[in-house]
Amino acid sequence: MLQIQNCSREVTAISIVDKIETTQNISVEQLQQLLAGQENAYLKKRAAAAARRIYGRSIYIRGLIEFTNYCQNDCFYCGIRRSNQETERYRLTEDEILACCLEGYRLGYRTFVLQGGEDAYFTDDRVCRLISSIKKKFGDCAVTLSIGEKSRASYERYFSAGADRYLLRHETADMKHYQKLHPAEMSLSRRRECLYSLKELGFQVGAGFMVGSPGQTADTLFADLKFLRELQPHMVGIGPFIPQHATPFGREKAGSCEQTLTLLSIVRLLLPHALLPATTALGTLLPKGREAGILAGANVLMPNLSPRSVRRKYTLYDHKLYSGEESAQYTAALKRSIDAIGYEIVTDIGDFKPDINVG
Ligand code: 5AD
Repeated sequence: MLQIQNCSREVTAISIVDKIETTQNISVEQLQQLLAGQENAYLKKRAAAAARRIYGRSIYIRGLIEFTNYCQNDCFYCGIRRSNQETERYRLTEDEILACCLEGYRLGYRTFVLQGGEDAYFTDDRVCRLISSIKKKFGDCAVTLSIGEKSRASYERYFSAGADRYLLRHETADMKHYQKLHPAEMSLSRRRECLYSLKELGFQVGAGFMVGSPGQTADTLFADLKFLRELQPHMVGIGPFIPQHATPFGREKAGSCEQTLTLLSIVRLLLPHALLPATTALGTLLPKGREAGILAGANVLMPNLSPRSVRRKYTLYDHKLYSGEESAQYTAALKRSIDAIGYEIVTDIGDFKPDINVG
């Protein structure tokens, strides 16, 4: 009897996955069913196949430079929020950032992701100077910014200075949930406006969300998927929520890795061309999380290029990995582990691939 039940559950899962893949759409009921699934092997298989049809077995690497952990925002989930007195603050100088790029360049990185808190010290003038210096020295590289909400005029200046891409996770597309995760001065409408401006200005844009953040439900996740289908970002960052002890969510439960993988796969089927990183947060919670992410449809890794001395200070959440293969210095070891699952790390610029090779 149990066998028959299991078998019929599997058949339902297969038909749901096939439907999502062919329509590139999902209903809230289908989402609920997949989130309840234990392993979703067929979903992962289809998602990985979809990624392979577009990107082959290439895995793109981006060098992450966490250049400041000062932040004027106070997001309830984040360890570098301004109210966190325990965080030791730092910012890198332009020379230090350029040295990180040089080290990354030598290791084969051709994209640098400058990520930081919303730090008023980094005025538009300083950010633009930084972008131009990197572009001047490393002309064949892409510069990605991840420095939060700014005015459209600021984004325009960054783009003119040479920035190519911008990562700004939307965090949740449900208004009430957004208010639960953020202080009153922040709003989902502003976040959405930023993302649309960035896209209109010509940036390759990354959105995304955490899985298992406090207050998240199948309905809020459904809103996330709907929003992603509407925005059509080039990249989608999805990682589990992990509590940071000195934040208001310090005692909340971490998100589920299995659900993170399920959502990665669903997003691969809904937006087959998207660049999908297997995130550090996933690698932190799940042994071989990076590999599991790739086998569920991810195609990007973002090892850390920040100077070793500051790495432990960029504590978005507890136990964040910073010394193993997620550190860029271990790129050779990373290449071997990716090789072992039948994929290949490539060092070209790794652009988003629009409609090619589909089918
Ligand atoms: N757990 C997991 N991810 C987090 N981020 C911030 N805090 C946490 C946390 N506690 C993510 C946010 C942000 C990105 C830089 O890191 O989604 O956009």
